[in-house]
Amino acid sequence: MEFFIDTANLDRIREAQDLGVLDGVTTNPSLMAKEGITGEENIIQHYLDICEICDGPVSAEVISTDFDGIVAEGEKLAALHKNIVVKVPMIRDGVKALRYFTDKGIKTNCTLVFSAGQALLAAKAGATYVSPFVGRLDDISTDGMALIEQIRLIYDNYGYETKILAASVRHTMHVIQCAEAGSDVMTGPLSAIIGLLKHPLTDIGLEKFLADHKKATQVQA
Ligand code: G3P
Repeated sequence: MEFFIDTANLDRIREAQDLGVLDGVTTNPSLMAKEGITGEENIIQHYLDICEICDGPVSAEVISTDFDGIVAEGEKLAALHKNIVVKVPMIRDGVKALRYFTDKGIKTNCTLVFSAGQALLAAKAGATYVSPFVGRLDDISTDGMALIEQIRLIYDNYGYETKILAASVRHTMHVIQCAEAGSDVMTGPLSAIIGLLKHPLTDIGLEKFLADHKKATQVQA
């Protein structure tokens, strides 16, 4: 499973990259706003900065909701860098735009997906990635992970090449469940990735190994 980080924070992206397990980055307008990135030039520069740090797919979201606007924005974003993936919302004109980008060879990430029907439509339109929002479904007492399993089944039934990118991943357990469900990619905060390495028996074991080594060294000396 590929690991993407869901942030527009350059320090977090550097930290994840430094760990050596980062495959890509996803952003959205809220994450860009959180970093105080506003104005077209700054937004463009920020995407380029992200592409400099991580040599993997970087999702950049359009804010237009009409076909012509989505296409114009998406083409501009795609031209910025070879790794840019145009993130398009699951709306009627978004589906049309997905097909347009697919036919042009532009990579896409269909976002704001909350049902199997939406994911099926995204695959039919040739989306490179589909982003079901696991955490936001959990937030409304709906099993987000069940949706990942359902989409996996549907895509496998027909051999759709659209990659399942589990989004709105909030914590380490979500990451593990995504892997169990056969998600192709998960995108979440750095804390969810770092959380994977933690186990108290590892800490206790290491402490003992180091203490024993120290004792043995002292005996020799
Ligand atoms: O980028 C889309 C998604 O990952 C948002 O996550 O935590 O705001 O629901 P969250």
